[in-house]
Amino acid sequence: MEKKLEKYIQTVEKRLYDIFPPENIPQGKVVKAVKYSLSAGGKRLRPVLTLMFCEMCGGEPQKALDAACAVEYMHTYSLIHDDLPCMDDDDMRRGKPSCHKAFGETTAVLAGDALAILPFEMIASSRDIPPAAAVKCITILSHFCGINGMIGGQQIDTDTESAPADGETILAMYSMKTSALIKAACLCGVYCSGTRRKDFFAQKAAEYAEYLGLAFQITDDIRDVTSTDEVLGKPVGSDERSDKNTYVRAYGLDGAEKAAAEYTAKALDALSAFDNNEFAVWLTEKLLKRKK
Ligand code: IPE
Ligand code: IPE
Ligand code: MG
Ligand code: MG
Ligand code: MG
Repeated sequence: MEKKLEKYIQTVEKRLYDIFPPENIPQGKVVKAVKYSLSAGGKRLRPVLTLMFCEMCGGEPQKALDAACAVEYMHTYSLIHDDLPCMDDDDMRRGKPSCHKAFGETTAVLAGDALAILPFEMIASSRDIPPAAAVKCITILSHFCGINGMIGGQQIDTDTESAPADGETILAMYSMKTSALIKAACLCGVYCSGTRRKDFFAQKAAEYAEYLGLAFQITDDIRDVTSTDEVLGKPVGSDERSDKNTYVRAYGLDGAEKAAAEYTAKALDALSAFDNNEFAVWLTEKLLKRKK
């Protein structure tokens, strides 16, 4: 299983940088900043999910590779902006100084912008994704990363700082800020696979992603309290410093751990709709126990 994960990650790594122009152009600073943040050592969970769902639906992973890279661009943009002083104000990301610390705020904003647009160019110009699937992926990504998805969740996340929120509000926020992009990743895999059962698989993939996203964000919030900067590669205690409404703050560490396990179990349930789901099951369980 570890080998399969490594293979997926290597496939993504090989393709991720092909689309960028050389750095020796007048606007090279933004190219450097984008590559700096991309290559800083993320787990690549979301692109792996794209390749994994493509394969679980009977497609060659290669068919979804450009969509997988697109999803990682979108995710990296969300992290660059998430770290900005006006958002979470975090100085470290993926084990290195955050983009704005390394390149300044202006370039960090622009690097994020560039990575938010690039997914659409990547998918629209892909030789591996047929036009109908490309339109579907672009629709999915723009929807789930927009006002009703990741950006909406980030808005609520920053709005609800200071005033304590209830569990329902917190979960609705997690669903948007975290599950939505994970859903886009999984759905792109389904639609790139060319499966004839795409409606059924899309429904199950969306269900899986919803629960995995909740478990993933709750675990991230737990690590923010229990881990170290070195292990996480980002500053611990960030949520408390920013007065964030996390599941841990509302229900304590025990409550959060219980909820993460419950949502993981629900995600695993959704996976039972897929044949050849052994890797997906293994990955889902591994994420609950992850150290960073
Ligand atoms: C961090 O995501 C943001 C959250 C939604 C919690 P990851 O934990 O996947 O970050 P990287 O990609 O590994 O750096
Ligand atoms: C997820 O929340 C952020 C995004 C949707 C980008 P966090 O703010 O908790 O993510 P980290 O902990 O900084 O990675
Ligand atoms: Mg945040
Ligand atoms: Mg943050
Ligand atoms: Mg966090």
